[in-house]
Amino acid sequence: MLAREAGEHIAAARAGHVEVHATKSSAVDVVTAVDKESEELLFERLGQLRPGDGFLGEEGKARESTTGVTWVVDPIDGTVNFLYNIPHYAVSIAAVTGEAKPGAWQVEAGAIFNPATGEMFSAARGEGSYLGDQRLQISSPPPMNLALLATGFAYSSAMRREQARVIAELLPEFRDIRRFGTASLDLASVATGRVDVYFERTLMPWDHAAGELVVTEAGGVIEGLGGQPPGREGLFAGHPELVAQLKSRIVALQGDTLLSEIPGWGLE
Ligand code: IPD
Ligand code: CA
Repeated sequence: MLAREAGEHIAAARAGHVEVHATKSSAVDVVTAVDKESEELLFERLGQLRPGDGFLGEEGKARESTTGVTWVVDPIDGTVNFLYNIPHYAVSIAAVTGEAKPGAWQVEAGAIFNPATGEMFSAARGEGSYLGDQRLQISSPPPMNLALLATGFAYSSAMRREQARVIAELLPEFRDIRRFGTASLDLASVATGRVDVYFERTLMPWDHAAGELVVTEAGGVIEGLGGQPPGREGLFAGHPELVAQLKSRIVALQGDTLLSEIPGWGLE
């Protein structure tokens, strides 16, 4: 499987010296040479195996689709973990049909591979969600005060200030929070029951394309915020009851302000 091939490449590279190659939206939004190599490998291999399919990758590789299928790829999700050698990063690959855009796409298949642990999460539409060969099913949720909430923060400090305000209110209301640093694995964690619910704002399409299907095929829901499709404005994942409770708390805390109305949200 391609996610495994790219994952093995990045794990081998991690055994050597890794450094920041460039920064993107802010000084803490980094890319290493290995992110680029992994994306290059996936772009080439998919071009050979599936000529005509489109490609949308985090590091800029793109190809128009002539088949209706587009591969949405994060060559290393959790780049900061990768940089610090925290064994919690992943290659995330999804095949989508329709317009390759959250809300418009239909995710047909997804794979998320953590090469540091060897765990492979996968899903195909209508065929269930798996960790290795073990089928995943979300169970009934605990009450909110006993639920473990996963989230993540943006690379922009203005946005983090806003996220910190909301999370400071939520923390006393949940069992605890986790910030693991890899959105695709957060979604996989919802499907496996390692966390009960997940919420994040400012995600990019490659962060959640594969994870969306892993969650929904395990019986969970993926929802957006403020009437927007799940994605940049906000994305919730989990059992529908817990997602509804968390969403109503976030709205009550005015944590649903449109990104465009948060001064400096996309800036360093
Ligand atoms: C990031 C991770 C992180 C999330 C950020 C993402 P990257 O992806 O998924 O957990 O909080 O929103 O941008 O930059 O490591 O590919
Ligand atoms: Ca990435």
